[in-house]
Amino acid sequence: MTDHIRIETADRLTTVSFNRPEKKNAITQDMYQAMADAVNDYASDDGVRALMFTGIGDCFTSGNDLQDFAAGPRGDGMPPVVQFLHAIKDCPKPLIAAVNGPAIGVGLTLTLHCDLVYCATSATFAAPFVKLGLVPEAASSMLLPAIIGMAAANDVFMTGRTLTSEESLRMGLVSRVFEDDMFAAETQALAQLIANAAPNAMRHSKALVRTQNEAITECMNVEGEIFAAQLKSSEFGESVAAMMAKRPAVYP
Ligand code: COA
Repeated sequence: MTDHIRIETADRLTTVSFNRPEKKNAITQDMYQAMADAVNDYASDDGVRALMFTGIGDCFTSGNDLQDFAAGPRGDGMPPVVQFLHAIKDCPKPLIAAVNGPAIGVGLTLTLHCDLVYCATSATFAAPFVKLGLVPEAASSMLLPAIIGMAAANDVFMTGRTLTSEESLRMGLVSRVFEDDMFAAETQALAQLIANAAPNAMRHSKALVRTQNEAITECMNVEGEIFAAQLKSSEFGESVAAMMAKRPAVYP
């Protein structure tokens, strides 16, 4: 168990909060494991009807913990991050992202598996995988172009630039944007509305909209192999070293 993920269930709604504000909610393997377990528990519990992800503090999540990335997988078996990605991909019940601040890397890509994505006006989105010598993950190389178009997706992936909430709404990356001071109350009310809705109709609605699960799984697996190889590459090493030293990366 880790305190860095807070899980609360009330009135048929589970809220999963990133709770590591001192590290901008960067996600460790223990946090992925806690989230994978929470999503799987939710999927199999008929008494809970909606699950919402959000962040504590001023960030949604700054993505994978960079030190954890560098340390590589530990132990045998399916790494917690892979368990988590499969859990959100396969979850038959509504998933909601309440993006309260920056959503970077997997912070963005996890929202592609959420059925409703709400964000605060101050929220931002970025997928700086290539900047880090890595490649898109979580089937984002398939899902992001499908949602925002190929040209826009390449702009996001290849430059790693940061999107504002307004731009994200225009692109169709988010469902709705709320003023910062109203964000918690608005998202809580909407999540409760989803949790109170007819559960079978909700599941069917999700399944009708969210098709192509096999292709998404295949994409995730292919990305995973390339991602793992890049993690061991000198491009990743140089990118992280440059980031830590606050200098431009140089790739011979
Ligand atoms: N992994 C590990 N630690 C992280 C982190 C990450 N992804 N993101 C932030 N942190 C840590 C910082 O190292 C810093 O730790 P320290 O106080 O011990 O030095 C702390 O969180 C605060 O971060 P800081 O950069 O000082 O905050 P900021 O408000 O200036 O910037 C971000 C916030 C999120 C914009 C910035 O931290 C950032 O860009 N992080 C990296 C994001 C990233 O590349 N993620 C990987 C995506 S694949």
